[in-house]
Amino acid sequence: MTTMQILETIQAFREAHAGLSGTLGFVPTMGYLHAGHLELVRQARAECEYVAVSIFVNPAQFGPNEDLARYPRDVPRDLELLRAEGVDLIFLPGGDEIYPPGYSTYVEVESMNAVLEGVRRPGHFRGVATVVCKLFNIVQAQRAYFGQKDAQQTVVIRQMVRDLAIPTEIVIVPTVREVDGLAMSSRNVYLDPEQRAAAAVLYRGLQQVATLYERGERDATTLRTELQATLAQEPLAQVEYVSIADLVSLQELDGSITGGALVSLAVRFGRTRLIDNVILEPQA
Ligand code: PAJ
Repeated sequence: MTTMQILETIQAFREAHAGLSGTLGFVPTMGYLHAGHLELVRQARAECEYVAVSIFVNPAQFGPNEDLARYPRDVPRDLELLRAEGVDLIFLPGGDEIYPPGYSTYVEVESMNAVLEGVRRPGHFRGVATVVCKLFNIVQAQRAYFGQKDAQQTVVIRQMVRDLAIPTEIVIVPTVREVDGLAMSSRNVYLDPEQRAAAAVLYRGLQQVATLYERGERDATTLRTELQATLAQEPLAQVEYVSIADLVSLQELDGSITGGALVSLAVRFGRTRLIDNVILEPQA
């Protein structure tokens, strides 16, 4: 095993990568790592000869009223966790390395602006696609790993890779959850104990929809209404949306589900906005 190299510039990263020969797996992150991130790293570690992780809190994907300034950060701790996972390369750029003065190029997956998070967070996926495209160009990995937790992000990245012929294989890793089902997220630290307990309602509601679907319920409106009713039982949960959508287009479904569906939601607990989802697999 090689020692972990921490590279702060594009040039330094390229030089370090040039010294390795073998498949490289890449995990892009914004740091403040938890077991969800580490699961992506472990899968990359299992499938690739070398693993690279980036830590960069990307300003371009935060809206003007979002939590960029207070986004949690702890780089020393992140580096220790990644060292323990046997990561080879860390890309830790400063803001100017990614967006130098005069920066002017953006990547936009247009169809994704009209649905789900794209509607509620204008510019968010433009920021995500732009930084991921640039990171892909810097890291030049054979495979890149993303979490199902951010379902629409996985769709955006897959579409970008297809449309721009980016030669990186995209691997999606299932959502890692706390014992009560809450999806792990860097933003969970914002929740006070009462909100934290209440947030378990998200996965309870999603699981309930999955169970109804397994038992044969196929009507999208019925499933959506059930999910809304479960969430309404939790007074601290302010629902922004619940969605039963097509797995590819992410357009809302009405009537009978035939090709599977993405069940997703965004719910606020105080100032903290949480998202989660489950997939209803297409049935033969
Ligand atoms: P971040 O929120 O740090 O997440 C990094 C990766 O970890 C993403 O692919 C995300 O889906 C995955 N992840 C987060 N929580 C997870 C969980 N509970 N289970 C499994 N995977 C989980 O997503 C971003 O950063 C940024 O948008 C980024 C892609 C780095 C671009 O800036």
